[in-house]
Order: sequence, then structure tokens, then C-alpha cells
Amino acid sequence: MTQLCAIITGAGSGLGRAIALRLAAAGMTVRLAGRTESKLHAVADEIAALGGSAQVHALDLEDDHALAGLANELAGERLDVLVNCAGDWLIAMLEGTSDAQLDHLLRLNLRAPYVLARLLLPNLRRSDNASIINIGSIVTALSVPGVSAYTASKVGLKGLTGALAAELREELVRVVMISPGPADTPMRDAASPGIDKSLLVEPRTIAELVQVVVSLPRGITTSDFTLHSLRWG
Ligand SMILES: NC(=O)c1ccc[n+]([C@@H]2O[C@H](COP(=O)([O-])OP(=O)(O)OC[C@H]3O[C@@H](n4cnc5c(N)ncnc54)[C@H](OP(=O)(O)O)[C@@H]3O)[C@@H](O)[C@H]2O)c1
Repeated sequence: MTQLCAIITGAGSGLGRAIALRLAAAGMTVRLAGRTESKLHAVADEIAALGGSAQVHALDLEDDHALAGLANELAGERLDVLVNCAGDWLIAMLEGTSDAQLDHLLRLNLRAPYVLARLLLPNLRRSDNASIINIGSIVTALSVPGVSAYTASKVGLKGLTGALAAELREELVRVVMISPGPADTPMRDAASPGIDKSLLVEPRTIAELVQVVVSLPRGITTSDFTLHSLRWG
């Protein structure tokens, strides 16, 4: 049987790490893309210890040359799954958000998934059951104050997801957004120190959903998901 291959951005921590572990546990070879090489190697070691297979691709997703370098490295390889998970956040009101902060969030949370999808589409076309999964946020469904730049980036990603889903449907490439509510990750620890953990979704629950979606039969897709604690909101 062909061994499936996934690439996950932001795989060094939080949701990306959990998704990488889950897809590796399902037997996929996983390519771990992210900024800090040591974190990616730590996840690769965890996967190896569980009998899985992982490769590390350390890069800054805001750097176009690095994105092109990744695409060159993977040229000719089949990819079955692209998970755009890397992201950053900012809690700031409109007038407290600088142009540089806005540009950073749009570049990392929206532009990088766009460019990566375009660069890796030839690889995904080599699969007979390809998926692009974009990790959004509950802010795409529920607007709250103090996160306008983050919300703009994630709602943009939602628009991109729908547009790509329509554009690639004839090629039977599924494109789905999974939008978590607050989840138990380093990002959440920094955003909401001391938060009641019962308000959070476990990363492995989100990873389980990713695994279900990418395992749908060829030619089948699903709507986008939001996923949050029943105690939250
Ligand atoms: N946690 C939540 O409550 C929550 C809720 C809704 C949506 N989300 C979304 O879930 C995704 C994952 O977040 P998380 O909670 O798992 O946070 P996290 O643990 O902070 O993970 C973010 C990952 O993105 C990577 N990254 C950041 N900037 C990068 C860059 N320029 N180039 C390459 N990689 C970069 C980080 O790498 P380094 O560690 O090396 O910097 C890190 O591995 C994000 O898109 C976030 O918006 C999270």
C-alpha cells in the first residue's frame, strides 16, 4: 500500500504538533514545517519513538525565498495532505495595532497559506485523494473586540478556503477549514494566562478531526468546521 505523505506548518508546537503526531500515528510520513528547528526535531523524535516517519523543514513562512526553497526541495514528490496551521495572534484594539503588526498577521496567517497552496499544488495533484486543511479560528464565526487584525487574517483564510474548494473541486482536491475555539496550546497560555482548562479544546481533539477529514473517500468533502468547548462562550 502507498504510504501517504502530509506536510504540516507550525508543526513544532500546539495544534500543528498534535496534527503531525495524529497523522503519523495513522501511518503517514509527515513533513514538519515551522520556524524553530529544535522544536521540529523534538516532534520528529517523538514520532520516531512511536515508530513513525518524519522530516524536518525549518523555515520562516513569511519569507518568499524560504517558501520557494521548500517547493524546490519537494519538487516531483507526491503530497496527500497540506495542513496550514502555523499562525500568530495579537490582542489589540484597532488604534493600538501598528501597520507592521497588521502586515505580519496577514503575511503569516493568510498570505503564507495562499502561496504554499499554489507552490505545492503540483505535489498534491500527484495524490489520488488530496486535502488542503486550513486552521482558522472561531473568530471567523463570532466577532469579538480586540482582535481585528487577527480576525481579518482568519476571515481572509476562510474566503481563500472557499475559493480554493470551488477552484479545485473538479480535480477532486478537498479544501476544508477547521476553526477552533480556545485550545490548550502555548499560544493560548500566552493569550489567556491562567484560563480555566475546561474552556479549552484539547489539541488532540482537533487533530482527530483533521485525520477524519483527510481520510474521507476520494471525491467526498465536507463543510468547514468550528470546534469549541461546550463550556466556552
Ligand atoms: N490555541 C488557540 O486557542 C487557537 C484557537 C483558534 C485558532 N488557533 C490557530 O491554531 C494555529 C496554531 O496555533 P497554536 O495554538 O498551536 O499556537 P502555537 O503553539 O504558538 O503554534 C504556532 C506555530 O506557528 C509557528 N510559526 C509562527 N510563526 C512562524 C513563521 N513565521 N514561520 C514558520 N512557523 C511559524 C510557530 O513556530 P515557533 O514556535 O518556532 O515560533 C508554532 O509552531 C494558529 O493558526 C492559530 O491561529 C489557535
